[in-house]
Amino acid sequence: MSKGLFITGTGTDVGKTYVTALLIKTLRQAHYNAAYYKAAISGAPSVAAGDAGYVNRTAQINEPENLLVPYTFTHAVSPHLASKLEGITIEKETILNGWKQVTARYPYVTVEGSGGIICPIRHDTTACYNLEDIIQWFHLPCIIVGTIGLGSINSFVLTAHYMQSKHLPVKGLIINRYHGGIMEDDNIAMITERTGLPVLAVVKEGDTSLSADPHKLAALYEGV
Ligand SMILES: Nc1ncnc2c1ncn2[C@@H]1O[C@H](COP(=O)(O)OP(=O)(O)OP(=O)(O)O)[C@@H](O)[C@H]1O
Ligand SMILES: [Mg+2]
Repeated sequence: MSKGLFITGTGTDVGKTYVTALLIKTLRQAHYNAAYYKAAISGAPSVAAGDAGYVNRTAQINEPENLLVPYTFTHAVSPHLASKLEGITIEKETILNGWKQVTARYPYVTVEGSGGIICPIRHDTTACYNLEDIIQWFHLPCIIVGTIGLGSINSFVLTAHYMQSKHLPVKGLIINRYHGGIMEDDNIAMITERTGLPVLAVVKEGDTSLSADPHKLAALYEGV
């Protein structure tokens, strides 16, 4: 049976893809056959130029990228809007079929969300899907990635509390773009105290590996 993990963030552009690539690379180097899935990517001229292409190359998954993402949009807006602008209907069945294919081939699949935790995937008179639905369809535990610095206490704690209020299981946090110093260290202490969540890894600017035990990382994934 395949296991999965959902990577959300405190917002867009906080390093979900960057960190996910390092996470999968770390697992693969420790001989865990790990792969990637993202339901919808916006703002990418091609699959290869988007998040799936970046992770595929950085973590050396070496799969045809279409397997890793069913929907790619050129407009750099939320998938629910990008799909409307591009005349494409996002179907639950297509997202689930893509998920079945990738989980049939890989025992560890890391799923990246779009934007932060509140991101509409489809919103019309026939259906509304949000990221929370995808997490529930796939039965995934989650981790929250965010940059550390001014404003990060607010964004991490709000994200964690929102997810807890929706009964989404959050396993911990990954701190990105850590430079050190009294403010960033205090931010981390405030965030862990207020969320009750552990820091699973700290990523610095330009890091090319994740300083975390791959076996502990693999243990975060749960059967789907
Ligand atoms: N620790 C880091 N060191 C160097 N560059 C980084 C780091 N973290 C993120 N970046 C860069 O910041 C930019 C945004 O990161 P990334 O694409 O991973 O964000 P994201 O949260 O996945 O965004 P989206 O919401 O669009 O999926 C990218 O150019 C990425 O390479
Ligand atoms: Mg991304």
